[in-house]
Amino acid sequence: MKDLEMLWYEAKEFIAVCYQELGKRGEEAKQRLEDIKNEIDQTGSYVHTREELEHGAKMAWRNSNRCIGRLFWNSLNVIDRRDARTKEEVRDALFQHIETATNNGKIKPTITIFPPECQGEKQIEIWNHQLIRYAGYESEEGRIGDPASASLTAACEKLGWRGERTDFDLLPIVFRLKGEAHPVWYELPRSLVIEVPLSHPEIESFSDLELKWYGVPIISDMKLEIGGIHYNAAPFNGWYMGTEIGARNLADEKRYDMLKKIASIMGIAADFNTDLWKDQALVELNKAVLYSYKKHGVSIVDHHTAASQFKRFEEQEEEAGRKLTGDWTWLIPPISPASTHIFHRCYDNTIVKPNYFYQDKPYQ
Ligand code: ARG
Repeated sequence: MKDLEMLWYEAKEFIAVCYQELGKRGEEAKQRLEDIKNEIDQTGSYVHTREELEHGAKMAWRNSNRCIGRLFWNSLNVIDRRDARTKEEVRDALFQHIETATNNGKIKPTITIFPPECQGEKQIEIWNHQLIRYAGYESEEGRIGDPASASLTAACEKLGWRGERTDFDLLPIVFRLKGEAHPVWYELPRSLVIEVPLSHPEIESFSDLELKWYGVPIISDMKLEIGGIHYNAAPFNGWYMGTEIGARNLADEKRYDMLKKIASIMGIAADFNTDLWKDQALVELNKAVLYSYKKHGVSIVDHHTAASQFKRFEEQEEEAGRKLTGDWTWLIPPISPASTHIFHRCYDNTIVKPNYFYQDKPYQ
């Protein structure tokens, strides 16, 4: 299929479902499609109404097979910034996203949508994986920070940014505008970024580890696709599920790799697999994460509650007469997976659009 045929095909599919879900009459959808057809013929593309954009972004979340948090898809806060053009406007919209989404700790699932690709050309190219993320460095003296950020951190330093080399340096915001040879970067205002120092409800020495994590995960490198329109710059966030931090970010050997140190402050030996010291350390680390976020008034969900919420989502989709899709390998939590219902059933991993997609990194 040629590009424009494809666009028209995708637009038809989207408008039909979107307008039906919004309770609009068939007549209205028919009229809208006629207008879209003309607009595509005349301009090579079409512009979503605010209503289409908002509902499309919500549908994309609902269709995100790997996400356990989809019960709340319909309450997504959609910020339309298709008007943003200059680097100052983009920067300020990104800062505004952080502030609005953080909401003093009572996190609001939010997406900010920038101008879409035009004939396959990006208007704005965001380099960050998440708007808030810790830098990572590999040097002769060893590793510092988050190894997952090593290549972006190196790219930032090539652009003239220089990190302090703590384990928790905040990466700057980095993006490139169409027509510019190089991206611009801006340091995040510290006042916008909530971080949670980790302590444990019983183990007092836990805080000696001086661990912390940021409050809001804002994915900024995925492409939102709605009705054939490609919103390559559309950062979005929910709140954390505790295991993302406690069983992966701080625990994975290729991330902060903290399990041995946690076993040590717990006073347990880390010598024999059969002692299950890793499992014990994982549980206490995850308790510390949930306890600390709660204590600091930052939204978070544990994996048992998240799984129950996902069960409600499954039921809700059934009632709405929609087919549920999901990716079992991602939906199961990384600790105690078999203690959730998700482990014990299967999911159809078909990709339905609108959806969020990975895209190539502009650096490396
Ligand atoms: N797993 C990623 C992280 O640990 C965040 C992915 C999105 N998570 C979310 N709860 N919305 O940073």
